[in-house]
Amino acid sequence: MIWCNSVVSYNYCKFQWLLLCCFLFLAHGENIKRSDFPDEFLFGVGTSAYQIEGAYLEDGKSLNNWDVFSLSPGTIRNGDNGFVADDHYHQYLKDIELIQSLGVDTYRFSISWSRILPRGRFGDVNPDGIMFYNKILDELVCRGIKPFVTIYHFDFPQELQDRYGSWLSPLMQEDYVHYADTCFKNFGDRVKYWTTMNEPNLFTQMAYQNGKYPPARCSQPFGDCPAGNSDTEPIVVMHNMLLAHGKAVNLYRRDYQHEQGGSVGIVLDCIMYEPLTDNELDQEAARRGLAFSIGWALDPLTFGDYPSEMRQYLGNQLPQFTSAERKFMRNSVDFIGVNHYSTTYAKDCLYSNCSVTANRATKGFLDTTSERDGVQIGELTGISSLRVVPRGIGEVVEYLKERYDNKPMFITENGYSEPQTEGQDQDAIQDFKRIEFHQMYLSSLAQAIRDGANVKGYFVWTLMDDFEWIIGYRIKFGLYYIDRQTLARVPKLSAKWYQDFLKNNTQTPVIRLSSELVHNKADS
Ligand code: NOJ
Repeated sequence: MIWCNSVVSYNYCKFQWLLLCCFLFLAHGENIKRSDFPDEFLFGVGTSAYQIEGAYLEDGKSLNNWDVFSLSPGTIRNGDNGFVADDHYHQYLKDIELIQSLGVDTYRFSISWSRILPRGRFGDVNPDGIMFYNKILDELVCRGIKPFVTIYHFDFPQELQDRYGSWLSPLMQEDYVHYADTCFKNFGDRVKYWTTMNEPNLFTQMAYQNGKYPPARCSQPFGDCPAGNSDTEPIVVMHNMLLAHGKAVNLYRRDYQHEQGGSVGIVLDCIMYEPLTDNELDQEAARRGLAFSIGWALDPLTFGDYPSEMRQYLGNQLPQFTSAERKFMRNSVDFIGVNHYSTTYAKDCLYSNCSVTANRATKGFLDTTSERDGVQIGELTGISSLRVVPRGIGEVVEYLKERYDNKPMFITENGYSEPQTEGQDQDAIQDFKRIEFHQMYLSSLAQAIRDGANVKGYFVWTLMDDFEWIIGYRIKFGLYYIDRQTLARVPKLSAKWYQDFLKNNTQTPVIRLSSELVHNKADS
């Protein structure tokens, strides 16, 4: 029995159940049910290797970019790092039991590049690393859970950075293809859903424009890094990543797809942009926002070239694809992986004053804000730029449907982190707001699907609280709480809610009341 594990006493569990029942009883509104989604729709939960595995130097794994980065003082909040993380490397069996207990169809996780190829192309495959993922895959398949595998989720062997500067160099394309090939060869018999990379559009910004992720490159006015060029390097890096994707997909289709029968997509950070005002200029800015973030990656992978909106403002700064490249880039995704958390307002900078970082070609001459006429677009979460805006998931899916001919989509991430307080751990476990968040977003998604959007699945981000990159362990997105002292996994109310939802528990309503209100009612 997983619910009442040793960390949570039986009485405490009873208390949690009672709270959930009160919450659901007091809340009202339309029901969202699993059966509101198509029969073959897949529900899942996601993680990524570096955020949960730990064991950073065990069994042949080499140091990766995040290991080295977090060793530099001041890079990560609270001096946190991923050396132990959630100790998933040792506790993977227990974690797969938790995943199964939720009743999901599929589990999204990523492979650690430095665990299976510690020196990239410049060394051997690490058999212990291969064995680790084989054990995970076998366990999932034997429990009837479909593996949904991200090949690259922000972490790569440090040697590739030291040798040639990683993604700034076209050499990284060859390393990536070698790595993807190793994954297809060793794991492809059990993987039917591959994604080549996670959020290249966010990674380029964070690593090469703001300089906040390794290798921490940037220039003024974006930041004060020792080296870098915030206007040009993100563009070069994205070009290398897209070509790496295209080459890997080409290889998969040529050598593996027929026999292994899987499909390949890419995962993008899909923030929705709404115009700040009804003014045509802001409407245009919102369209540019989508083209400069989503279109930047998906237009080349669908049509073989960068969006015309980008060409218009970036001109020759945008690299050209050769005709051979266009050919293999075009239609190089079988599905689109959509990471969606929030929506922002877009404001035109071409004809009005904006900050120096917004008023630039590389940013599409637009600024973003969460406030219109003094009113916030949605409630605050743990990451201030990610407000709760349920309608946005429907809007972004609608945008993708129109622009990319309704290509199959998976919501590969959607999740909630509480605003940070000095609250007790128990507050984190009674996570009414997270339940409310998922219900509202799912409701909006179900409507988009009824309106014809070709969405095939939805993954909650994330299974358990984890290493949230530069924010460390303070920000929590998990369905399970991790006790940082004992590393025990403690189910939050949201884990119970998801389990019920997946059983199509028709009593579970969409929560319309704010959690404070529900707390107050429950207390009275
Ligand atoms: C997207 C990233 O893929 C994931 O690694 C991260 O934890 C979530 N966003 C939340 O910030």
